[in-house]
Amino acid sequence: MEKIVIKGGISLQGEVQVSGAKNSALPLMFATLLADGQSEISNVPSLRDINTAEKLLRELGAEVTSQDNCYRINTGKVKSVEAPYDLVKTMRASVLVLGPLLARFGQARVSLPGGCAIGARPINLHLKGMEALGAKIHLDHGYVEATADKLRGAKISFDMPTVGGTENLLMAASLAEGETVLENAAREPEIVQLAEALNSMGAKIEGAGTAIIHIQGVASLTPLKCQVIPDRIEAGTFMIAAAITGGNILVRGAVRKDQEALISKLIETGTVIQPEADGLRVIGPKNLASVDIRTSVFPGFPTDMQAQFMALMTRAVGTSRISETIFENRFMHVCELQRMGADIQIDGHSATIRGTAAMTGAPVMATDLRASASLILAGLAAENTTEVSRIYHLDRGYEKIEKKLAGLGANIRREQE
Ligand code: UD1
Repeated sequence: MEKIVIKGGISLQGEVQVSGAKNSALPLMFATLLADGQSEISNVPSLRDINTAEKLLRELGAEVTSQDNCYRINTGKVKSVEAPYDLVKTMRASVLVLGPLLARFGQARVSLPGGCAIGARPINLHLKGMEALGAKIHLDHGYVEATADKLRGAKISFDMPTVGGTENLLMAASLAEGETVLENAAREPEIVQLAEALNSMGAKIEGAGTAIIHIQGVASLTPLKCQVIPDRIEAGTFMIAAAITGGNILVRGAVRKDQEALISKLIETGTVIQPEADGLRVIGPKNLASVDIRTSVFPGFPTDMQAQFMALMTRAVGTSRISETIFENRFMHVCELQRMGADIQIDGHSATIRGTAAMTGAPVMATDLRASASLILAGLAAENTTEVSRIYHLDRGYEKIEKKLAGLGANIRREQE
């Protein structure tokens, strides 16, 4: 197994390029199943989750080739409609094949994902939506079996906005007969990209990016050609890297409108953010002010940035309170940050962080994707050496992070344990 070793205390300087968004690339790769033929998706990041998506597409019978972050996916010979447990448990986003397979082939067999480190994460709203479109859903030996002669448009009101649920229903409804209206839909930029991509394939979707989306079903879709948007969570992580090290970084590819909640909180900490032609320049202050955050659905503060922001608040002057409202178990980084000297108390879904002037490096263990990033950020600002183990979590979602940080002057390397 590999670990990341960081010698902290260096103020990061320079420019860094943000990769394509994992959470956009995954639904786009699965959307190719809706059409018969060769799709092409560029700016796909090199990540473990993308490899899992590739494996799943191959398992279904698609031909997948990639070169320089560009994927060609030929879905002409898809012969299986089953997403097996070993792939779904490795990556929950695999459940996004449900909508496309059901819509194109009238059937799908997808393993239930089960729980994961950050919470229960059920897919009941995906299934309820498919049923509303006329699918018959049957649970069998841990698998969802869905069948439908023909999906028919319906009005679906989500009990809560769900990113994956909205994406699955967008894809299914694109090939349903008649109009589907999604109410209380998720509004994340990745949803907007998926809707635009589907429209470029011939779908008729209006309202993506708002809570109400209208989809006029069409009889067939043509292969996809598109470029993945920049990863706003990776961009946000580099923005915090600048803030926590008192650095000055141009984050190329950071898009202001996708980062408003994070940006306004960073500005409150005293961080300076200046838009430039192709990104955002982020300048960390000498002393960080403490601020409170509460995660919520887009355009609120993203849960995927909560752990990283907590690392930042461990270095702020004063006390901050962080409330997590999306996932029930997303404070596992806290114990590890405490091992580095952080003063954090958890009370239910909230954490109180008393900033401390100095954190000390320590051996720590990554527990999930964004927790890994938070430990790396803490390590960049800590005295002495931090060793982050179990970094396979990190490799699920950050492309070459240690190389990118080293390019900004960090003393960081990957080693065998
Ligand atoms: C996506 C992102 C993930 C991010 C999350 C929230 C991808 C591949 N992953 O995950 O990085 O942290 O959005 O922004 O895009 N829920 C239900 N029933 C459902 C579906 C969801 O109760 O059927 C609940 C979940 O347990 C959670 C909340 O709704 O509490 C939001 O989950 P959702 O938006 O669906 O997250 P994902 O799509 O899994």
